[in-house]
Amino acid sequence: MTGGRVVTLTANPSLDRTLALPGPLARGEVARLGPSSTEPGGKGVNVARALAAARADVLAVVPADPTDPLVTALEALRLPLVTVPTGAPVRTNYSLTEPDGTTTKLNEPGTALDAGLRAALAAAVAAAAVGARWVVLSGSLPPGTPEGWYAELVRAVRGTGARVAVDTSEAPLRALLAAGPDAAPDLLKPNAEELAQVTGTSEADLLADPAALTAAVAQLHERGVGEVLLTLGGDGAVLSTAAGEVWSARAPRIAVRSTVGAGDSSLAGHLLADLAGAAPADRLARAVATGSAAAALPGSAVPTPDQVDPAAVTVSPGLPGTPPSTPEPVPAAGRDVP
Ligand SMILES: Nc1ncnc2c1ncn2[C@@H]1O[C@H](COP(=O)(O)OP(=O)(O)OP(=O)(O)O)[C@@H](O)[C@H]1O
Ligand SMILES: [Mg+2]
Repeated sequence: MTGGRVVTLTANPSLDRTLALPGPLARGEVARLGPSSTEPGGKGVNVARALAAARADVLAVVPADPTDPLVTALEALRLPLVTVPTGAPVRTNYSLTEPDGTTTKLNEPGTALDAGLRAALAAAVAAAAVGARWVVLSGSLPPGTPEGWYAELVRAVRGTGARVAVDTSEAPLRALLAAGPDAAPDLLKPNAEELAQVTGTSEADLLADPAALTAAVAQLHERGVGEVLLTLGGDGAVLSTAAGEVWSARAPRIAVRSTVGAGDSSLAGHLLADLAGAAPADRLARAVATGSAAAALPGSAVPTPDQVDPAAVTVSPGLPGTPPSTPEPVPAAGRDVP
């Protein structure tokens, strides 16, 4: 089967505002900013933007008022949207960038969703899922949301026949994987930090010891996860399938400009290849090529297909055989902060 719609849910979307400082951040002082920019953000929104850039059939579900600046910005990108009004403005997340590349992030908590709003969002996702190929649940949950809400959503989507991909971290990720096999996603996209959070093995051990990495990924499958797309930053990614195939791919050498949202583009690349009916090794190559193309672009910009070259990615069976490379050169704020 090829083609099909992808529905993304971003429960805690944001407007991502980048403020260009003229020098190092000086607490207690006035800073005269350079040109600033605002982009629509949130991990599901990023995945949807990356899919739309490749002309995939995508629908983004966001809790936001129809007149919210986030919605206006997404409409300007011609991204098909379903909005669930909340009566409150979408949060703004700030990135303070210094001339040497150091970035400080200030994230607002986001709009709390009460039980009624959660039910409305879940109903919107379940309705959009009918006839869709994939539903993507991505990012943090808004304040006050029960940690197990993603598990409820997976169960709600199950009956529609759509497959479910999840990319989240910390408590919502742990709760999802503790919820039983009927709530386990068809595809999970952790990074090494997230894999460490749910398996109890330290990130350092996962990266240094192939046996520890194998055992950690096996834990995810044992809990019912279908495929695992484990991204490893500048070291590429690993794909472990439900059928027991394991592939690894090194990232192409690129001039890194911003790794913010690179993982979202990796997930989009994997889904694009899946929609095209690609085999596991080709899905992994497309995931890594798309993630690395995103990392070569500024901010959370997503690549267009002409910027993505899966043929430049080497895929090998099994886990990465060589030790991880040195950390990426660009200073950045912590990964996957909610
Ligand atoms: N320094 C780098 N050089 C080349 N490619 C990179 C680099 N950093 C990231 N990438 C690409 O982006 C992909 C995803 O990166 P990473 O594992 O950091 O995602 P992530 O931690 O989920 O990020 P986020 O959640 O912010 O989107 C990698 O698999 C790789 O293809
Ligand atoms: Mg990520």
